[in-house]
Amino acid sequence: MAGRLIYLDHAATTPVDPRVVEAMKPYWSDKFGNPSSVYQKGREASVVLGRAREQVSGVFGCLPAEIIFAGSGTESDNQAIIGTALANQSRGKHIITSAIEHHAVLHACEFLESQGFEVTYLPVTKAGIVKLEELEKSISQDTILVSIMYANNEIGTIQPVKEIAELVKKKNPKTYFHTDACQAAGYCDLAVDSLGVDLMTINGSKIYGPKGVGVLFVKKGVIINSFVHGGGQENGRRAGTENVPGIIGLATALELVQKEKEKESKRLIKLRDRLIEGLLKMDKVFLNGDPARRLPNNVNVTILDIEGESMLLHLDKEGIAASSGSACTSGSLDPSHVILALGQPYEVAHGSLRFTLGRANTEEDIDFVLKVLPGIVRELRQMSPVRIDPSKLK
Ligand SMILES: Cc1ncc(COP(=O)(O)O)c(C=O)c1O
Repeated sequence: MAGRLIYLDHAATTPVDPRVVEAMKPYWSDKFGNPSSVYQKGREASVVLGRAREQVSGVFGCLPAEIIFAGSGTESDNQAIIGTALANQSRGKHIITSAIEHHAVLHACEFLESQGFEVTYLPVTKAGIVKLEELEKSISQDTILVSIMYANNEIGTIQPVKEIAELVKKKNPKTYFHTDACQAAGYCDLAVDSLGVDLMTINGSKIYGPKGVGVLFVKKGVIINSFVHGGGQENGRRAGTENVPGIIGLATALELVQKEKEKESKRLIKLRDRLIEGLLKMDKVFLNGDPARRLPNNVNVTILDIEGESMLLHLDKEGIAASSGSACTSGSLDPSHVILALGQPYEVAHGSLRFTLGRANTEEDIDFVLKVLPGIVRELRQMSPVRIDPSKLK
């Protein structure tokens, strides 16, 4: 196995599909025009930009004019939240989100709190599903926006987006509903009408498209401020010369993942469940997230008595790339806010380990993880001073 990388971190980013690379190629060199220029080269770029917008709107089942291209998923999330909050503050200053959102949403909400907005962070069940009764109680006449993610990046839980949308509109028809669908875009239905969303974010980097490009769907009639100020691009709603190759890459990748999602999901679910079953055979290991309402490629377990980070380093030596819930890499020793929100104690939350599968993974990859991980766990537990009694955990 030496020399071979088993990449199991597709929730962090995916490799770019060769078909996507091919589609992007001419727009780096030959067809380098600026879509805002009036001459031939510019018009050429403007036409392909329009085509990419139609590709994305075709998948979302919306109007091309309802699509804003942005610089990342983070930027789209920020525009959705800060852009609607600032534009609608005369109606109310209350926003609702969940405790398990990506930091792109959570930190945008925290920024708004610093500007005098009130934010409710909804709790989730032990399996990571937003508590709908809490949502219902929280919506008031003052609520201008609810932002709940479609699928979670750490534990893969898929939220009942349609039910959430119905509840929001029933309680306050004027409240906007945004969903961060970055992790869901490769596996879930994105038809905005049937989902009932007013705003939706996706990005290129999780769907075998390029990094550094995002999309924000904004339903016609939604009042939103521009977030990046400058030129009049994107109908005056997002300034800055469009990343033409990136946008073409994202649009191509989105069409491909959506076309292939049923077949690929079936294949990945088999591999995912094989990995979960094998991991749960180890002592003092449990699954995080919902066993059924879960992304086809997500496995997240807690392995008691040891730290996720140490397991990652040992797995890396074996050529396996995975991820842990803890944020040690960002200089903090805090465990993941998502795992903590599931109600796990601090020392337990430290032992979470995430494997996110993708196109290149095979049964052999899964079996190799299951072959090497028990030895790593045994070795680390021997060195660990921690002994958690699983019967004491609720
Ligand atoms: C759920 C979710 N939202 C937002 C983002 C941010 O996207 P980007 O890295 O394109 O800014 C990510 C990526 O990690 C994500 O998983």
